[in-house]
Amino acid sequence: METTQTSTTLKNFANDVLTGLSAQPKSLPSRYFYDAKGDRIFQQIMRMPEYYLTNCEFEVFEQQKQQILEAIDPGKKFDLVELGAGDGFKTKVLLRHFLEQNADFEYFPVDISNDVLKHLADDLSQLFPDLNVSVLNYEYFQALKKLNELDDSPKVILFLGSNIGNFTPESVVSFFKELNNTMRQGDMLLSGIDLKKDPGVILEAYNDKTGITREFNLNLLDRINRELEADFIIDNFKHYPIYDPVSGEARSYLISLKEQDVRIGSLNRTFHFERAEPIHMEISKKYSLREIQDLADVTNFKVKRHFTDNRKYFVDSLWVKE
Ligand code: AVI
Repeated sequence: METTQTSTTLKNFANDVLTGLSAQPKSLPSRYFYDAKGDRIFQQIMRMPEYYLTNCEFEVFEQQKQQILEAIDPGKKFDLVELGAGDGFKTKVLLRHFLEQNADFEYFPVDISNDVLKHLADDLSQLFPDLNVSVLNYEYFQALKKLNELDDSPKVILFLGSNIGNFTPESVVSFFKELNNTMRQGDMLLSGIDLKKDPGVILEAYNDKTGITREFNLNLLDRINRELEADFIIDNFKHYPIYDPVSGEARSYLISLKEQDVRIGSLNRTFHFERAEPIHMEISKKYSLREIQDLADVTNFKVKRHFTDNRKYFVDSLWVKE
């Protein structure tokens, strides 16, 4: 039998697909990329040589873990909260180092997937038996609210992996403002942000020759077929990524290769596609250091320090709530 949670989630998915495909130009929200298959494809993406982001952030942590600890350590017990923790691949570098340095902290991974958190907690208890871990299986803001009710230790919030790149320019401002509202004076935020760079390097990261990113995008049509009883013919759509060096937005589209109708059974609707009509799938915005400063200013944070990799492709930007 379906749980209420599952049916609500499916209802939201159906509503968002309806809104996106009824709009002009058509779009689909990239947050739905991450079903079980999408999660697996994203793991593959992070291992691709073209997808420099993961390695850059790993390098930042490997090479500057002590400087990061010195910059965030409040000198008393603190809560290290990670929004969208995933498998903690890069965070483990910091956790190991913080433990070795006897930093006084508790780790709170936040994720909406209970499976992800269970797996991560098991993994961490094997790797670091001395680490205090409490998983928070909530939406980000719910989790931060809960944590504020639980204790008043200073917080360091991690939001890694260029996740902010997937926000629209308007929603990124409201996201950071809302985050700021949940924080107390002196709490910090470390965000992993992909920087503007040679457009060729960026485009290749979203247009790999092996076709993994293509599969990542097309999987969403497949998911709509499976979960919403649709009849998308996947081969009738082409993955088309672009990069605009002015806005810093890498955008991906699926282009309808012919005029066609697609029926979505659970919406009881048919959608018409013109030949060459695009569906906008994802924004992955890249920032300049100037834009990062501006973003901190408008969302009431003070930039404390930037940790960049050797090529200056990526930054972990440390902000403080004053
Ligand atoms: C999760 N997010 C930061 C990735 C990005 O780079 O925008 C998702 C992704 N899309 C295509 N490749 C990776």
